[in-house]
Amino acid sequence: MSDYTLTVGLGDRSYPIFIEDGIMENIGTDLAKRKIASRYVVLSDDYVAKLYGTTLMATLQAAGINAELLTFPRGEASKNLQVFTDLSSKLARMGIDRSSGIIALGGGVTGDLAGFIAATYMRGIPFVQVPTTLLSQVDSSVGGKTGVDIPEGKNLVGAFYQPKAVYIDTAVLTTLPVEELLGGVAEVIKYGVIYDYDFYCFLEKNLDAVLELNPAVIQEMIHTCCKIKAEVVAEDEREAGLRRILNFGHTIGHAVEGASDYSLIHGNAVAIGMVAALRLAVSSGLCKRREAGRVATLIHAFGLPTEIPEGMDIDRIKAYIKTDKKSIAGSVFYVLPTTIGKVIITNELTADQIDAVLQR
Ligand code: GLY
Repeated sequence: MSDYTLTVGLGDRSYPIFIEDGIMENIGTDLAKRKIASRYVVLSDDYVAKLYGTTLMATLQAAGINAELLTFPRGEASKNLQVFTDLSSKLARMGIDRSSGIIALGGGVTGDLAGFIAATYMRGIPFVQVPTTLLSQVDSSVGGKTGVDIPEGKNLVGAFYQPKAVYIDTAVLTTLPVEELLGGVAEVIKYGVIYDYDFYCFLEKNLDAVLELNPAVIQEMIHTCCKIKAEVVAEDEREAGLRRILNFGHTIGHAVEGASDYSLIHGNAVAIGMVAALRLAVSSGLCKRREAGRVATLIHAFGLPTEIPEGMDIDRIKAYIKTDKKSIAGSVFYVLPTTIGKVIITNELTADQIDAVLQR
């Protein structure tokens, strides 16, 4: 395995994250050694299954692993209780039992849905993540958040359920549409701003190399993000404290995403939300204008949006902010940078401050 192997330290639920260019072809050999399950079902959407299903199934079969591929339609619309039930029924009809495991091959929707099925099927069977988007590689495949959407909101039904291993193949990013790559970059910048000034400088310095998918830079970048996420999750698995810093840019970001009827992709909404949070940090006297401007410049330089789209209904954004599922006892919390690399969490913002950043 490469130098970019990490562990998420959660006692007897600890698990490895492998980051390597081309690792997809070696997953079978490694999984065979781990003895996680006697048989596997690979869950994937129909698009990703066409791209990588054959490679993954071939490596599993070559390693003597009994595995079958089960697909569902691509897109967030599949992350619901109906698809959850359909897939669970299929597992039951295939004779999947507690000695079997699930492999989630795909982006965030697949990881969340497959992970939630793994968390609940027969009260929990092992699962493995093979994330294929930058967003899922740096965020959703690590940390055990699984779940589905219901009409009342995204991810409202779910469970914390950790995978047994995460295999990150950086080569798959070459087939990722640019918009989705940039969506992942927004979460990457987030890690620098909330936790690691040196990493933030690395991103400034390597902007072109990231956009050109330079393999060495991409591996180092993903490794640093996963290292930060692993540290945060190991300290606060259930988001009672430190893990809340990962919500930087997400309070206003989620609201803007909702108010766009989800036509804005998550990463773009987070980029807008991060700039809004930086402006709130400046208006609260927590962060210097120059530092906030530096981050907004980097977000813009990567080609990500920094402003709420023209014509968006501000009252709808405010209504979404009020229903933020990370609120506590009706109080909405914001993660605000004090400098690049450090944040605080506060619920002490005035309505005027919020209005000012929404109505620019
Ligand atoms: N995506 C934020 C978290 O995993 O906590």
